[in-house]
Amino acid sequence: MGALEGKVAVITGAGRGIGREHALLFAREGAAVVVNDLDGSNSGEGTDIGPAQEVVNEILAAGGRAVANTENIATWDGAKKLVDQAISEFGGLDVVINNAGILRDTFIAGMDESQWDSVVAVHLKGHAAVLHHAAAYWKDQSKAGNQPNAAVVNTASASGVTVPNAGQGNYGAAKAGIAALTLVAADELARYGVRVNAIAPIARTRLTLATPGMGVMMAAAAEDAAAEGGFDAFSPANISPLVAYLASDKCDITGKVFAVQGGAISELAGWHDAKTIETEGPWLIDDLAARLP
Ligand SMILES: NC(=O)c1ccc[n+]([C@@H]2O[C@H](COP(=O)([O-])OP(=O)(O)OC[C@H]3O[C@@H](n4cnc5c(N)ncnc54)[C@H](O)[C@@H]3O)[C@@H](O)[C@H]2O)c1
Repeated sequence: MGALEGKVAVITGAGRGIGREHALLFAREGAAVVVNDLDGSNSGEGTDIGPAQEVVNEILAAGGRAVANTENIATWDGAKKLVDQAISEFGGLDVVINNAGILRDTFIAGMDESQWDSVVAVHLKGHAAVLHHAAAYWKDQSKAGNQPNAAVVNTASASGVTVPNAGQGNYGAAKAGIAALTLVAADELARYGVRVNAIAPIARTRLTLATPGMGVMMAAAAEDAAAEGGFDAFSPANISPLVAYLASDKCDITGKVFAVQGGAISELAGWHDAKTIETEGPWLIDDLAARLP
């Protein structure tokens, strides 16, 4: 029996990259999957049924259960239609994997409003929108006496939680917000039987292949692994077992963020008091200058 047998899962941005690998593994592990992807460009333009339906076709051909969804999860309405589709097609909702993402990298001095808005909308609002509608469903289930046994896995990034990445002010801020949202949601939704965690993945996908410096290095690593028959440490498939575990009944973890790349998984710790200075009365600026650095 698969680790996700009987679960109904929604996976956003699952038409390609890391989300596609999640969808394929979830289906192999017995989940019914709603494969969401609006198939935009790297920077979020355009829509097409293509990639979501292709992943669904692959799952169906292997004997699994899946349906495609092309809603824009960056809107409350699109997220609601996605959650509603899981419930109407498969009779409920057990797992949400928030994964959809875009990049519009530029330094803050040159960033226009649309570059900020679109990245924050897809990542931070997109996570919040799906989480909101799923949480409302789980809350209703709980109040009706059907206590859920549900899980959410969000997608943060090293850019935002561990490595300040110049040129990614919009993306890093959204990803840091996703890590914060994860902890708050874990706290709020525990009463309804819902666990909420996040990952910060690193893998070779369309996004990273287009990132200066990373693409060349990751493509070379793939060629080396193929030539030597070794472990492809940047394969996006390496990310999915952790996500499947976090979504499964084998896991009781909640409110955590894990970095994952290749064979390495690290639990990340958030903001904490690194140093405290105190005074008996109001601070003087000269005292701060003497003691704070
Ligand atoms: N690849 C990495 O190393 C890496 C590192 C850190 C974080 N991430 C995160 O992992 C997630 C997956 O990224 P990926 O690398 O697989 O990229 P990807 O471009 O291969 O896949 C992202 C998918 O999301 C879809 N999408 C974008 N906006 C959408 C929207 N509004 N509604 C529905 N679908 C939408 C795209 O069409 C695309 O298919 C993203 O959240 C990304 O920020 C990736």
